[in-house]
Amino acid sequence: MLGNFTYCNPTKLYFGKDALEGLNKELPKYGKNVLLVYGGGSIKKNGIYDKVLSILKENGKEVFEDAGVMPNPTADKLREGVARARAAKADLILAVGGGSVCDYSKAVSVSVYCDDDPWDKYFKRFEEVTCKIVPVGCVLTMVGTGSEMNGGSVITNTEEKFKGGRVFDENVYPKFSVLNPEYTFTVPRYQMISGIFDIMSHILEQYFSGEDDNTSDYLAEGLLRSLIRSAETAAENPTDYEARSNIMWTATWALNTLIAKGKTEDWEVHMIGHAVSAYTNATHGMTLAAVSLPYYRHIMPYGLSKFARYAVNVWGVNAEGKTERAVAEEGLNKMEKWMKKIGLVMNITELGATPEMLDGIVSATVINKSGYKVLTAEEVKGILTASL
Ligand code: NZQ
Ligand code: ZN
Repeated sequence: MLGNFTYCNPTKLYFGKDALEGLNKELPKYGKNVLLVYGGGSIKKNGIYDKVLSILKENGKEVFEDAGVMPNPTADKLREGVARARAAKADLILAVGGGSVCDYSKAVSVSVYCDDDPWDKYFKRFEEVTCKIVPVGCVLTMVGTGSEMNGGSVITNTEEKFKGGRVFDENVYPKFSVLNPEYTFTVPRYQMISGIFDIMSHILEQYFSGEDDNTSDYLAEGLLRSLIRSAETAAENPTDYEARSNIMWTATWALNTLIAKGKTEDWEVHMIGHAVSAYTNATHGMTLAAVSLPYYRHIMPYGLSKFARYAVNVWGVNAEGKTERAVAEEGLNKMEKWMKKIGLVMNITELGATPEMLDGIVSATVINKSGYKVLTAEEVKGILTASL
């Protein structure tokens, strides 16, 4: 049975090879001052920076820059960004980059007109936004997080060794996002594959929870099947437009709240992955890949029928004459084979984690009261040990 819900997603999307022209429709809606936010410089190498800048100029904008947003953006950088946005009197924050740049821009947007420290207010005390929000637009260059059409924002406090996630309401969603699959062609292979698994993990975090016959789960299975197929093509040929465009679209739908509607969600893989990242600064999707199978094999007995359904509907396992457990296991084995085939990192050692770090990682793991099994700290440690 679908539970009660409200659905609203206000982000306007421009998708395809000409998507950047959407900026000409959007920019006139905002004031003169634009804070252009980007990362470590990939957009300068691949030409996206020049294209965006010339459209901003054509639209008469005064452009202020905030560069150097790192993967897993830090609380210190966030404070710097807030100061820059204030100095610029930004009327619009234009994020040009991946999830890190988009997440960071949202965190800046809710902090410009707020006196509190942004980390303490939003990522520690989880307070509501009570001040004016500077609108954010996004030109996406790296696919995976879904940040282009959601309220998610993930910031890492390096001193506290904690990576904190926050989901803001629809007032903080990007007002618009530009999605041109060709912009993702220059993403390094490691990042592309990592992003692909991030997408898969987002879908699974919402799928592996609850037992109902629920439309959201059928949508999830369809997205997974498209992703699995397109990922294999993209891993062989990263400039296959059909595959990359399907992956881009799947990423957006994987985490724009639709497939969670009317059902419960898990998100424990992300909690463990974020803690690994807080200790290693490893790439987000790879942390998820490295802990997913130990986690799912651990919780499988508590949600057996759903894991068997996953095996049949997503991985095409033939259930005839087999026990539910055997079918469920075969599904996870097929998933493992696929993960290795596309080149994912399958253990946290390769990401820089050591046995000595495990107790710290366990204490940095938020344990959600959700999914098929609420973990104990010992179980988290067991999963991490199996992931080494
Ligand atoms: O910084 P530059 O030079 O731009 O390089 C980036 C970065 O090094 C590079 N890159 C991006 N587009 C490129 C490119 N290189 C060449 N060509 C391009 N077109 O890719 C690297 C990774 O970028 P990043 O933005 O960090 O990756 P991603 O999109 O995976 O974002 C990761 C962040 O998002 C958070 C993660 O925790 C992590 O902090 N998440 C956000 C979520 C949300 N908003 O809902 C949910 C996710 O679960 C996730 O937690
Ligand atoms: Zn993720």
